[in-house]
Amino acid sequence: MIEMDSKKLLYEGKAKSVFQGENADEVIIDFRDDMTAGDGARKESMGKKGYFNSIICAKIFETLEEAGVETQLIELTEPCVMKARKLDMIPIEVIVRNIATGSIIRKFPFEDKSPFNPPLIQMDFKADEFHDPMLNDAIAIALGIASQEDLDKLRELALKVNEVMSKMFKEIGIILVDFKIEFGKDSQGNIILGDEISPDSCRLWDAETLDMLDKELFRQGKDDEVIDAYEEVFNRLLTEEDKAKWNIK
Ligand code: C5P
Repeated sequence: MIEMDSKKLLYEGKAKSVFQGENADEVIIDFRDDMTAGDGARKESMGKKGYFNSIICAKIFETLEEAGVETQLIELTEPCVMKARKLDMIPIEVIVRNIATGSIIRKFPFEDKSPFNPPLIQMDFKADEFHDPMLNDAIAIALGIASQEDLDKLRELALKVNEVMSKMFKEIGIILVDFKIEFGKDSQGNIILGDEISPDSCRLWDAETLDMLDKELFRQGKDDEVIDAYEEVFNRLLTEEDKAKWNIK
């Protein structure tokens, strides 16, 4: 947890707080234990969630960087606290789906659990007051939130992220069902992966049992199962080397 008094709060999201970093082009992201559902209608504090998510996110971002995807991660200075590049965030939630479930089967006649091949990319306007409506390119361009070139780049990067993450999770017996990512621009206008990737923003199913290992448990009111599921993802994902690097016992 960051000492609030000493840092300038730039933005407070539903699960993270973003503070000005020491350098002008850096921020410090505090991963909190807060968990919300239904556009923030339900909110609970989930013990150790910030701890697990910050470390899972750092591990995923590092793996993506190694695969050539630029992320905002500079370093996880301690669990829950990420030093990151300051980005001008694009208000688009880029959702990649490998399997049909969740909101897509409530809105369209896709069969539950049927695979998308190729993966389905969806873009939603990040605006709680409008309930994050689905975008198309023409609407995003008319809103002035992205150019056609930006949208093409977001799709290209989202597919690459999906490829790297699907493989990463498959190796630890987890199916990456779908996920949401967000991007921002650095001071040179480069599009960089920002925000977080964690069990808060992905659907993850155990490959054998198909048990849920993500925030869907909370959405379904199974609050007492949430942290065990996040810990399971954490334990499978982190190597002994990772644990030593971040001083995790
Ligand atoms: O609810 P829906 O099926 O559209 O969610 C698709 C994916 O995007 C899920 O992995 C969900 O966790 C993620 N998501 C998110 N934040 C949102 C909406 C969806 O992380 N605001």
